[in-house]
Amino acid sequence: MEKVHKEIYMILQDIIDDHKSIRKEDSNDEDLVDVLLKIKQENYHSEHPLTDDNMKSIIQDMFTAGTETSSEMVKNPKVMEEAQVEMELHLLIYLKFVIKETLRLHPVAPLLVPRESRERCQINRHEIPIKTRVVIIAWAIGRDPRYWVEAERFKPERFVNSTIEFKGTDFEYIPFGAGRRMCPGIAFALPNIELPLAQLLYRFDWKLPNKMKNEELDMAESFGITVGRKHDLYLIAINRLCNMYYLSKQVQKRCS
Ligand code: HEM
Repeated sequence: MEKVHKEIYMILQDIIDDHKSIRKEDSNDEDLVDVLLKIKQENYHSEHPLTDDNMKSIIQDMFTAGTETSSEMVKNPKVMEEAQVEMELHLLIYLKFVIKETLRLHPVAPLLVPRESRERCQINRHEIPIKTRVVIIAWAIGRDPRYWVEAERFKPERFVNSTIEFKGTDFEYIPFGAGRRMCPGIAFALPNIELPLAQLLYRFDWKLPNKMKNEELDMAESFGITVGRKHDLYLIAINRLCNMYYLSKQVQKRCS
């Protein structure tokens, strides 16, 4: 035990020394060790100055407290469930469904890149000769009531427990296209939507101006090679973080 104790103290001393050598200018970047060092400096001449050993014990307490909480959690499955729900929230699972549903109703590219038919075929009694240019309307497919329940309704929940993906294998849902010419930018596009959207939602509540009701928002689209809103979207951003009780005094001051 003494050996382990010494090792831990050596690691912690290294961490403290690192922090001593790089003092942070901006207090917003400070971590626990920076704060402890500041307290140590401020109480240098006091009756009970903070020693490096005190600091090491405080840091070690933090780790111990952290591990004890998690073992308590195993004993209390309800608590664990609650924590898992929060984790899921952090993984933005519901937000992903929201984005999927938005892409179903409003695919950025309503018409896929035209294809050419390789052989003659018949669709609904229509003769399609070989080498016909075929335009696939992803927009209409995403709203087809034969494949979607309440097709015109915005319902992200429809993707919960659903295996439908936009990887080009579920032909009722092709916002990124399908086949050899499907969009190669999915892995870049999704985080670029998810992360800014998550930030905007986390930091602000969004309200419509002029006492407009939510259901009055016009979702008309401007049609073209890519689709956007027909009318600009005006929203009022209300800072949520300033109301949160757990904010540090510094952040509260910045908000006000
Ligand atoms: C939400 C975002 C995006 C959507 C909905 C989207 C959708 C599409 C669609 C429907 C196609 C035509 C696929 C087909 O005809 O089968 C396409 C093609 C393409 N996309 Fe995207 N895209 C997005 C973002 C991006 C990004 C971020 C990039 C690049 C970083 C990208 C690069 C391309 C390229 C290069 C093609 C042409 C592929 C080819 O013709 O072989 N896309 N995209």
